[in-house]
Amino acid sequence: MLFAAVQRISASSTKSIRKLSSASRTRTAVSGRSAARSSTATGANPGASTCSVEDASATKRSRLTASGDTVPRVLRRRHDAPVSPTPDRLAGKAVGAALRRLGYSEDGLFRLLGDEAYSGGREEVPIHERRLSDSRLATAVRLFFLERPVPFLDAVRALGRRTVDALETTGLADLGDDVAPRARITPVGELLVASDGYSRDVQDPPDYVATYTPTSRLCDLLTPRPHVARALDLGTGNGIHALRAAQHSRHVVATDVNERALAYTELNAALNGLANVECRRGSLFEPVGDERFELITCNAPFVVSPERRWAYRDGGFEADGFSEHIVRGAADHLAEGGFATLLVSWIADDEDALDEHALGWVEETGCDGWILPVFGSEPLDHAAGWNAHLAADPDAYGTAVDEWTRYLDDLGVRWVSEGAVLLHKRPGARRPVRVDEVDEDELDEAGDQVLRAFATRARLAEPGRAELLEGRPAPAARLVVENELGAPPSREILVRLDEGTHHAFEAPARAAAVVAALDGRVSLGDAIQAVADRLSLSAGQASRLRREAVDLTRALLEIGALELSY
Ligand SMILES: C[S@@+](CC[C@H](N)C(=O)[O-])C[C@H]1O[C@@H](n2cnc3c(N)ncnc32)[C@H](O)[C@@H]1O
Repeated sequence: MLFAAVQRISASSTKSIRKLSSASRTRTAVSGRSAARSSTATGANPGASTCSVEDASATKRSRLTASGDTVPRVLRRRHDAPVSPTPDRLAGKAVGAALRRLGYSEDGLFRLLGDEAYSGGREEVPIHERRLSDSRLATAVRLFFLERPVPFLDAVRALGRRTVDALETTGLADLGDDVAPRARITPVGELLVASDGYSRDVQDPPDYVATYTPTSRLCDLLTPRPHVARALDLGTGNGIHALRAAQHSRHVVATDVNERALAYTELNAALNGLANVECRRGSLFEPVGDERFELITCNAPFVVSPERRWAYRDGGFEADGFSEHIVRGAADHLAEGGFATLLVSWIADDEDALDEHALGWVEETGCDGWILPVFGSEPLDHAAGWNAHLAADPDAYGTAVDEWTRYLDDLGVRWVSEGAVLLHKRPGARRPVRVDEVDEDELDEAGDQVLRAFATRARLAEPGRAELLEGRPAPAARLVVENELGAPPSREILVRLDEGTHHAFEAPARAAAVVAALDGRVSLGDAIQAVADRLSLSAGQASRLRREAVDLTRALLEIGALELSY
């Protein structure tokens, strides 16, 4: 049963309620937009200090040999500067297999560290450490999730001697009396993802490679996942989207300007036993020439910023130029029938027309488009949010905020939006571009919903298609109608999607009653008539109901909550 009618005594409040007019050029609701964001802080980033750096010189140490004897050991490398991992395929595969055998997974982490395993920063590490037992899994978690050194013997006991050697081969750890991690390994779904360690904020190098961040997650959850021949992940970072695509694509090209990012991507492919990811270094679409792809993902360095501090954050274009380039370039590189999920940013000089930039880019691509704003802020909040890492130093913080707001003022910016632009390239007539805000806290896996939404929009655009009233829509996902007991049929209530993007629409209760009757067997026209008869509506009232019900049904079809079954 996909459709649940929930009778409630009082109306609920949902953070970001889409009005039906959100299908028009400009979105109408902005109140649900959160100004909080961080590209380096991560849902999977409990933070930790890096390994100790004293004794960086050759130090006599001892270690366990394969036979169990101890022999003097020289600590070969131990310094603070980030190094590139070595993407040795065999060694990487061995490390991945050993961690999996131990149960190094999301579930394993939740079991050991509790529900908050993935939250918090490096300041949480001492607390997390104290939750750990001395099991073999706990040793691996201490080493690669909390990024703490562990005694060499413990590492061998947990992972086996060959795997410990593979850690050195791949550059994932330095070996000495302790095994000292040089990277973090984060379980993300079925995948293991190595990246640089915890962010040290201002001390992060320009080529810092972040772990699975909140924006990585947004991009991941909003990516449709059909089986395709060729996929492109632009600005791949640690390679997370390339790895995800590799699970449903024959071949994946992963690009980045950052050599260290590509080294991580190659190593991560090995850690996960994936042999179909090809890394290419270069800027924007230059590494792929005029090649075409059925899937393009890009969590771009989209931040509207006057700085060039971090490759993952500052794209180096004026204003939202990097994002514009990504949207237009993705459309050019999409194969017919292809999809793109792009995390980008756009500015507005008019608070009553927040999405004109993104709408303009998408409309000119000729693709079907879906713009999903997630964060939005005024210039001062934007500047404060993206410089929060300086907050402990009020002078530096103030200076940076001044520099950013001056930059935005000079550009005439009144509002900065950050979110996703989804594209679908197909022949034939286009549907108007939709804009629907997304609340990142409510977002679930939405890839199938995105596929449905674009498929339905293509169908609705078919020439000669029968009127929507003759169609027989059916729920394609869990829908909830939130009504009040005894509420009059004209009362506005919520119809919300209980999965995927969790969009919600306000509509009169009588229109919601029509939608609640749609089961794929009854036509929309008949469902409207049945409700009109039941409520004994006059001709004028029935005509209004028809308009309301068609609008609501169309919106639910266009977001993939309903599908057509005629
Ligand atoms: C926000 S990070 C996203 C990383 C990864 N895709 C993810 O979602 O976690 C942006 C990435 O784009 C890369 N990048 C920056 N400028 C680029 C450019 N001009 N062309 C290609 N990649 C670029 C950065 O090095 C960084 O790895």
